[in-house]
Amino acid sequence: MKLLSISKICLKVTSVTFFCFCAFIVEAQQKSIQQKVDSVLKLMTLDEKIGQLNQYSGDWDFTGPITADGDKQQQIMDGLVGSMLNVTGVEHTRMLQSLAMKSRLRIPLLFGQDVIHGFRTTFPIPLAQSASWNPELIEKAERVAGTEASAYGVHWTFSPMVDIARDPRWGRVMEGAGEDTYLGSLIAAARVKGFQGKGYGDTAAVMACVKHFAGYGAAIGGRDYNSVDMSLHNLWEFYLPPFKAAVDAGVGSVMNSFNDLNGIPATGNRYLMREVLKGKWNFKGIVVSDWGSVGEMVNHGYAANQRDAAKIAINAGCDMDMESRCYKNHLKDLLRTGEVKLSTIDAAVKTVLKTKFELGLFDDPFRFCKASRQDNQTHHPENRKVAFEMAEKSIVLLKNENQVLPFNKKMKKIAFIGPFVKSVRDHLGFWSMEWPDDTATIVTLWDGLKNALGKDVELKYAKGCNVNDQDSSGFAEALQIAADADLVLLSMGEARDMSGEAKSRSQLHLPGVQESLIHAMHQLGKPVVLLIHAGRPLIFDQPASQVEAILYAWWLGSEAGNALAAVLTGKYNPSGKLTMSFPRTEGQIPIYYNHLNTGRPASSATDVNYVSAYTDLLNTPRYPFGFGLSYTDFSYGDILLDKTSFHSGETIKASITITNTGDYDGEETVQLYLRDITASLARPVKELKDFKKIFLKKGESRTLVFNLNVEKLKFYNERLEYKAEPGAFELMIGPDSETLKKVNIQYN
Ligand code: BGC
Repeated sequence: MKLLSISKICLKVTSVTFFCFCAFIVEAQQKSIQQKVDSVLKLMTLDEKIGQLNQYSGDWDFTGPITADGDKQQQIMDGLVGSMLNVTGVEHTRMLQSLAMKSRLRIPLLFGQDVIHGFRTTFPIPLAQSASWNPELIEKAERVAGTEASAYGVHWTFSPMVDIARDPRWGRVMEGAGEDTYLGSLIAAARVKGFQGKGYGDTAAVMACVKHFAGYGAAIGGRDYNSVDMSLHNLWEFYLPPFKAAVDAGVGSVMNSFNDLNGIPATGNRYLMREVLKGKWNFKGIVVSDWGSVGEMVNHGYAANQRDAAKIAINAGCDMDMESRCYKNHLKDLLRTGEVKLSTIDAAVKTVLKTKFELGLFDDPFRFCKASRQDNQTHHPENRKVAFEMAEKSIVLLKNENQVLPFNKKMKKIAFIGPFVKSVRDHLGFWSMEWPDDTATIVTLWDGLKNALGKDVELKYAKGCNVNDQDSSGFAEALQIAADADLVLLSMGEARDMSGEAKSRSQLHLPGVQESLIHAMHQLGKPVVLLIHAGRPLIFDQPASQVEAILYAWWLGSEAGNALAAVLTGKYNPSGKLTMSFPRTEGQIPIYYNHLNTGRPASSATDVNYVSAYTDLLNTPRYPFGFGLSYTDFSYGDILLDKTSFHSGETIKASITITNTGDYDGEETVQLYLRDITASLARPVKELKDFKKIFLKKGESRTLVFNLNVEKLKFYNERLEYKAEPGAFELMIGPDSETLKKVNIQYN
C-alpha cells in the first residue's frame, strides 16, 4: 500500500514536472517567435507592413499576362501582398512563393483556400456529416482534407463554418452543423483538430479558420447577407459557443462576416473582435475579413467611403483585408492623419508574421510545395475509405413502412428513376474543388447500386424529369419501366448549386415537376422508395405520404453511389439523425427544437385554441431535430437516477437501458436533453446536453450512464454571467428531440 502511494506520488511529481517542462518549452518557443516577429517588424517599411494585411484572390492566368487589379506579380515582388486565396497546387504556389522570395525582406506568402468538405477526396457536405453525430469521424475526415490540401501547397483553410442555423431558406445551412449549439460546438472543435492535426506547423496540416464571426446564420428571413437582429443573450447562448469551442481547440484564425449585427457590420464590430474575441477569449491569431466585406461597410451605410471602411475595420480588430483593397489603398493615409495608430497596424502585422513563423514558412517557404507529397495524396485509396464511411453515416432514414428497406430477395426488378440517378457533378455538392479527374471518379448512384446488386437483380433506368423545369415528357417512359418493376426507387431533390452561398430560396419544395412524378409513381401501387438529395432541409410533406420509404441522402461526395448502395442493400444499417428540424411548409420557418415555451404553449400537435400556433398547420415539425430511423428497433427503458437532487461539485448519474428489439444489428444515438423549468430568464423547452452512440447486436441490451454536473445547467443570465440557478430541472432521454423519457431532478 505504502509503496503504491509513494510510486503514485512520484508519478504525480514527475508528470507535474513534465507538464511544467512542456509549458516552458511552448513558452520559450512562443518567445522566440515573438522575438523573431519583432525583429522582422523593425525592418519593415510602412508599405511592406500594410502589404502583409492584403489578401488577393488568385485570378491568374499562369501562362500569360496577368489580370484585373494592376500587376499582382509585381506587387508580390514588392512585398505588398501578405496572402493569396484560391491558388492551389505545388506548381502554382511555388511559382508565386518564388516571387515573394524576390521581395526585399523575403517574407513568404500565406496560401488560403476554402476546403469545406474535402479537397481532392470529396466528403458529404458538412450538414450531412453532422447527421452522423460523430465528431471523431468528422475529425478523421478533416484530417484527410487537411493532409490533401497541405500537400497541394495550401497553408490555411477557411473552415470550419460554425454558424448555428435555424432557417433552411438560408442556402448556407449546408456548410454548418445545423441548429444545435452543443453538437455544433463539438463538431467545431473536431473540425479544427482534424485540419490542424499535430499543429499547423506540421506539413501534413493546414491552419483552420472558424467563420463567420458572428451571427451570420441568423440572417433575417434566411436571405443571405441580410441583417442580424439579435439580443446579446441569444448571441452568447446559442451563436458564440461554437466559436469559443474552436478557439479552445486552438484554431489559428477567425473570419468575420458579411452581416451586420444589430446595425453594426461584423467586419467593423469592435465589440465582437476586440472585446470578445481578442479580449475575453484572448485570441492571438489572424482575424480576416470575408470576401470584400471591409469595403461593403459603405453599402451597409456604416462607413462613408472605402477609406472610412478601412479605418473602422482595422480599429475594430480585423487584421487582414480579403479582396476589398481598402487597407491597401487607405491605411497609409489614415496613419498620416492619426485616424489609425501605428501600434494598431503593427499588432495586425504581428499576427500575420507570427502565423508565418508558426507555419515554418520563414525557415522554408516551399515546405508545402513538394511534388512527391502532392502525387502521394492524389487519389489516395485510404482517403476514399474515410469518405465512404462518412457518407454511409451521413444518410438519414426518415420513413420505412412495411420494412420495404433494405431490399429483400423478392425484389428482382428495380426501376431506378430520377434526375440524379446518373448525375456525377451533383454529388460534389456546393463548395467543392472541381478537379476534372476527381469528378470522373465519383461513384454515381447507378454505378454504386448496379455493382452492389450484381446480376441477380434487373435494374432499369429512366430519368423521368429534370431537376428544375416544367418538362414532363419523360414521365411516360419512367412509368413504363416502373409498371414492370417490383420496386420503384426515385432519386429526387435539388441540384448542387441550389444550396450554398447566395442560394437562399423562398420555396423549398422539390423543384420542377418532381412532385408530380412521385404522385404518378404512387398511383401505380408499387412500393416506392424515395432518395432525397439536397443541401438543406427540403419540404416534402405531400410526397412523404405517397412513398413507403425515404432516405435523406444530401450531397454525399466521391463515394455517393457506394454508400447509398450499402444502405439500400442492408450492408450498412442507417444511423444518421437530423441536425435541423424539418418544417412541414415554408410558413413554419424558422422552426427549431430548443424554443421557449411562451405564455400560451400548445398542449398537443393539433391544439390551436388561443395558443401559440398556426391555425392551418400541425404544431410539430415534419421531422424533429435528432430524428432518424434504423432498420432495427430500439426500445428505451425508464431513466434511473442515483439521486434526485444535487449540489455544485456533485454529479447525478442517469442510467437508461437500450435494447435492440428488431431484426438487424444497428447503431443508435441516445440523446439527453435538459429543461430548466423556472429561471431568471425563460429557458428553452429542452436543450441537448449530451449524447452517446451505441452499437447493439440484434437482441442485445446495454445500460448507458450519463453523468450530469452543474456545468450542464449553466446558461447566460440577463447580465451575461454564465451560471447555474438552483431549482427544478427536467431530464429527458430518447432517440430524438420529441420521443423522450422524462424525470425531474433538483439542483440546490
Ligand atoms: C465566403 C467565405 C469564403 C470566402 C473565400 C466568401 O464569399 O462568405 O465563407 O471563405 O468567400 O472564398
